[in-house]
Amino acid sequence: MSSNRHEIIEKNVGLLAVLIVVAISFGALVEITPLIFQKQTTEPVENLRTYTALEMEGRDIYIREGCSVCHSQMIRPFRAETERYGHYSVAGESVWEHPFLWGSKRTGPDLARVGQRYSDEWHRVHLINPRDVVPESNMPGFPWLEENVLDGELTSKKIALFRDNFGVPYTEEDVKNASEEVKGKTEMDALIAYLQSLGHAMK
Ligand code: HEC
Repeated sequence: MSSNRHEIIEKNVGLLAVLIVVAISFGALVEITPLIFQKQTTEPVENLRTYTALEMEGRDIYIREGCSVCHSQMIRPFRAETERYGHYSVAGESVWEHPFLWGSKRTGPDLARVGQRYSDEWHRVHLINPRDVVPESNMPGFPWLEENVLDGELTSKKIALFRDNFGVPYTEEDVKNASEEVKGKTEMDALIAYLQSLGHAMK
């Protein structure tokens, strides 16, 4: 009896297709819906702070230079990863990331917790020519970052945009001072400030 009903579905392609879509949609809803309402995935972790204006500019340089093509910022919950990089990444660390920079390719190491692991000077030397500190490195150098100076013209706008469109809790002060804070700093200063901030909330 029940095998007959099954036969009806198997021999009717249209019905089979509809039922497959229903089954997959149900599965997706069960997996996705709770994520939208779970605080764990929508609320910032306790120690999360907003990026300073300089770190925010550094983040944009990180995006521009394609660092995320070779570096992930996503530590998976496996022993081999947590022993090497530290606590696995949690969603609450990324709630103010727009766009998030988790990445999916690791030519180089994961950078989610690289902040404070090296000195600013180490990063400076490494970013100009990685082989000066890691002889076997095949990471490209980014020497122009040392020469490019930020004018800060758009920085206040950028901070305001994160506040107004993405709900990142910047104050009026933060917005007002942003341009002044970065003006005259090099792109290298900004990128290093950003790198040093990575992982701060879960140290
Ligand atoms: C072509 C791939 C590639 C690109 C692009 C790249 N890197 Fe790397 N990166 C590597 C490799 C490989 C290593 C490991 C060797 C070394 O330390 O130089 C590395 C190492 C690092 C480290 C040291 C990490 C650690 O835990 O020791 C930092 C920090 C870093 N990269 C930052 C950056 C930044 C910032 C950018 C963009 C400006 C960038 N990388 C672009 C491949 C890349």
